Amino acid sequence: MKLTKLVVASHNDGKIAEIKALLAPLHIEVQSAKELRLGDVEETGKTFEENAKIKANALSLMCGLPCLADDSGLCIDALDGRPGVYSARYAPERNFKLGMEMLLKEIGESGKETRKAHFSCCLALACPNEKVKLFEGRVDGEIALKPCGEKGFGYDPIFIPEGYEQTFGELGEDVKNQISHRRRALEKFIKEIK
Ligand code: IMP
Repeated sequence: MKLTKLVVASHNDGKIAEIKALLAPLHIEVQSAKELRLGDVEETGKTFEENAKIKANALSLMCGLPCLADDSGLCIDALDGRPGVYSARYAPERNFKLGMEMLLKEIGESGKETRKAHFSCCLALACPNEKVKLFEGRVDGEIALKPCGEKGFGYDPIFIPEGYEQTFGELGEDVKNQISHRRRALEKFIKEIK
């Protein structure tokens, strides 16, 4: 499949920047739903896959172009996989500083020792008149004892990827973009379109 234009079905600046950086070597014209002023789509699904499909299909219908949607989130073992698909909504008014404090408190109160967690990303590619294609990626790690670093977005300051001693918030985009859940899903997407 050869793509020349792609709309990233997102209004999340952090995600858009990472996806654009990772797709830059492909020389595809990438624009976001935010830049095109396309409306936001309600996430009514119960899984990352369902939500990614819903967003990609809705946006592709709106603009008639190939659309790539990312649904992702942080899954914490001590909280039985929460906040998961509700990661964005867990933080009151998208205040992730507060959301991180709430998560650390919940983990402390869970009575469980484990700090294991992973980020999941499901990408859905919807092209007009074609069946949606899905690409998944995951990065395992641990939840830090307190937020560290200001880089990245969302829950990056409390996530320490496996093999590292610092959070994504401290490691920054060069390291994150080599190993992240989004990078791993995008690698599968890139294989498909090459
Ligand atoms: P959604 O995919 O629009 O439902 O939003 C996913 C939410 O999960 C984001 O708003 C972040 O809070 C969180 N999230 C997803 N990916 C990342 C990441 O790479 N770093 C930090 N937080 C993330």
